[in-house]
Amino acid sequence: MKVKTLLFLIIFQTSYIMSSDNFGIAVHGGAGVMKNLSEEQKQKIENKISDTLIKAYTILEKGGSSIDAVEFAVAELEDSPLFNAGKGSVYNSNGVQEMDASIMSGKDRMAGAVASIQRIKNPIKLARKVAESTEHVMLVGEGAEIFAKNIGETIVDQDYFYSEKNLKRLKKAKAKKNAGIQSATQDKIGTVGAVALDINGNISAATSTGGMTNKMPGRVGDSPIIGSGTWAQNGVCGVSSTGHGEYFIKYQVAREVCARIEYLDKNIRTSSKEILNELKNIDAEGGLIAIDSEANIAMPFNTDGMIRGSITSKSTLNVAIY
Ligand code: GLY
Repeated sequence: MKVKTLLFLIIFQTSYIMSSDNFGIAVHGGAGVMKNLSEEQKQKIENKISDTLIKAYTILEKGGSSIDAVEFAVAELEDSPLFNAGKGSVYNSNGVQEMDASIMSGKDRMAGAVASIQRIKNPIKLARKVAESTEHVMLVGEGAEIFAKNIGETIVDQDYFYSEKNLKRLKKAKAKKNAGIQSATQDKIGTVGAVALDINGNISAATSTGGMTNKMPGRVGDSPIIGSGTWAQNGVCGVSSTGHGEYFIKYQVAREVCARIEYLDKNIRTSSKEILNELKNIDAEGGLIAIDSEANIAMPFNTDGMIRGSITSKSTLNVAIY
């Protein structure tokens, strides 16, 4: 970890001298109840977030696009059992994982999303294919999986997503009297997302999730909804949300952050913090990551913690949970 940080600082210094452009990336691994995380869990999470950020930043540093950087970062986190997305997705009330994801490019408003998919290894890659290879923005369930098969996207057995820990979470949620669905923020694992600005000024955002433990089959949260879980708009901002999806849909949180910058001339920190405070007032828990056109980053949350990190051309690697 220390050696990696040192290496990054050397790379960072070199890149800063060579380029005057602002660019950068932020990622999140979900907001929620984090206070009972063991030291070992914290270390694993921080290492995964650091590794992902350093690799994604290298894409941007080499002149790569923000859409490639956010897709890469989210796919890395989907492949880890530490987060509630891809491999680590939580179970619905039928004991099945149903995943949602979306991606957006602020350059041309290209947007793609998938929802309620059960056997796709990397939902975020399929979301991008929906944007680039169909006339649609969102595909769901069986239709999305048939599309995935037709284009050769990686399909896995449901065994790939098997998790003792997530089954225990489901049993606990079912056992709770009147529990209904388990609040997304009660889990120690969460939705993943990334926002990035590249050297050409293009902003992109991506979000992926397994949703909520014990959710109804077919329930779709905010993560695949453009404007709620994900938004990207060149010259303004890019946002990826995490938290209690129903509220994030009703308050169009990702777009709202950018709208306040665009129309009310707020800065990214004020805009995103204001919205999280407003959500807290109605008991809507969660957080978000946002980047603006000058690579300023905001990562507010109204929960106990949010797994998050960023690197930009003007700020060093920063990873935090609380
Ligand atoms: N924010 C993730 C969900 O509610 O599904």
